[in-house]
Amino acid sequence: MNDMITIALSKGRIFKDTVPLLAHAGIQPLEDPESSRKLILETNLPDVRLVIVRASDVPTYVQYAGADLGVAGKDVLLEHGGEGLYEPLDLNIARCRLMVAGPKQPSETRGRLRIATKYVNSTRRYFAEQGRQVEIIKLYGSMELAPLVGMADRIVDVVDTGNTLRANGLEPQEHIMDISSRLIVNKASMKMKHEKVKRIIDRLAEAVAGSSGS
Ligand code: ATP
Ligand code: PRP
Repeated sequence: MNDMITIALSKGRIFKDTVPLLAHAGIQPLEDPESSRKLILETNLPDVRLVIVRASDVPTYVQYAGADLGVAGKDVLLEHGGEGLYEPLDLNIARCRLMVAGPKQPSETRGRLRIATKYVNSTRRYFAEQGRQVEIIKLYGSMELAPLVGMADRIVDVVDTGNTLRANGLEPQEHIMDISSRLIVNKASMKMKHEKVKRIIDRLAEAVAGSSGS
């Protein structure tokens, strides 16, 4: 039990995109989190299990050793801060861009620009680096709504196709950074379970190298 390897993943795009990479490491989940309500999923390997958590909770589970490894978006890692974690590998999945977006016809701004976002830390850093004074309104989702109801001037969110912005009459305006998902590792697990953890990192790195260019 002590040598059990626990990998934290979120449902949806991260799970779907990670499964083929795990397969290269010889790890196959025995259940699909979309149909199962279980939070702990066994794999074909008796000493490897998956835990299913909210995307923004993955770094916390890995930091506090609820999981040895995890997969999290760089956007989420920047908000978490990365304490207690190694980030050995860019998995090159769930790729998108962190952007400032706003209405095509912006309304007249009184005073400081108001930005609605769940990415408070990245937003604060981006505007501070440019010496722009902004007021940040923390939201947990549906950021696109905030400018539509006059609550904010702009939003900071991840953008892929731009469809969500377009559907809400918003346009991408400033590119903050490119985002992809990273493999993260608990610092103690890296030492205590080194052999098993290293093997998984190496096999995932091979899988990423093999699928690059797509
Ligand atoms: P939470 O459940 O914690 O609110 P979430 O709903 O943002 O998180 P997902 O939508 O599964 O979780 O996103 C997981 C990660 O995938 C994000 O952290 C981001 O890095 C990336 N991502 C988000 N939206 C897209 C997108 N439209 N296209 C590609 N990658 C994306
Ligand atoms: C994400 C993100 C954006 C959207 C961007 O939402 O929050 O709203 O994708 O993608 P696009 O540019 O291709 O439209 P997601 O679809 O994951 O739904 P969620 O808000 O439930 O996470």
